[in-house]
Amino acid sequence: MHIFREASALRAWVRGQKQQGHRVGFVPTMGNLHAGHFSLIEIARRHCDRIVASVFVNPTQFGEGEDFDRYPRTPDADAHGLRDHGCDALFLPEVGEIYPFGAAQGVCVHVPGLSDALEGAARPGHFDGVASVVCRLFNLVQPDLAVFGSKDYQQLLVVRRMASDLGFPLEILGAPIVREANGLAMSSRNQYLDAAQREQAAIIHATLRWMCERVRASDMPLAEIERKASTRLSEAGFLPDYAVLRNADDLSEPNEHVRSGLVALLAARLGPVRLIDNMACDPAV
Ligand code: PAF
Repeated sequence: MHIFREASALRAWVRGQKQQGHRVGFVPTMGNLHAGHFSLIEIARRHCDRIVASVFVNPTQFGEGEDFDRYPRTPDADAHGLRDHGCDALFLPEVGEIYPFGAAQGVCVHVPGLSDALEGAARPGHFDGVASVVCRLFNLVQPDLAVFGSKDYQQLLVVRRMASDLGFPLEILGAPIVREANGLAMSSRNQYLDAAQREQAAIIHATLRWMCERVRASDMPLAEIERKASTRLSEAGFLPDYAVLRNADDLSEPNEHVRSGLVALLAARLGPVRLIDNMACDPAV
């Protein structure tokens, strides 16, 4: 596996691969990789001949008081894991490589509407940071395809809109959520949870399943499903931020009488960690 710290060298390598007729897939990450990330590499591999992953803890998507400084950084383990999963090139840039004028002085990409609700409301500026860094990475890497996990469902929609609006000539795939045996969605931040909290966190997945079952059963108004889901989380010791049903294509509020194409999304704090998760409510076809 090639390791590139400079964008110019990576770009030259990507150009060479494309000239040889290879399709290049890209998996952007913030490192501290787990099975969820490796599943993205495997999905990219099914569609592409060469895979590039990036590991970059992006400062602009962390707000005041968030965990940027203590976000787990494990570059050696990440490189080993990526190599074992058949990644061809790893991009490991410093901040100056991504933000030549400094992170605070860089051009900012804002995706209106989609960036503002839910995670955007809880973490102001977060999606500007995500859209900006992904836009920069797409420009530097020039992939044919990029894969994002759908645990960060709103992020996936923001990135899709950004790429489509700015005319990036690439395909974006959303990958299924990879879960622990108890249903907890895999996340680098799960390591902030102790063993008891990890068990307790199973209620998140159970609540999403319950919300989707109620949507399909049509036996309860949508607002009541949301209210009860929130209560369920509070009673289990969480501090819920939101538990909502939204139209899956743009996160708009659904019509009570059109109970298809919905996604259940929730965010809740458990001890030191804010967990997010989601589930598409339509039965799998
Ligand atoms: O999902 C992530 O890990 C990050 O938000 C991303 C897409 C790599 C941008 O920094």
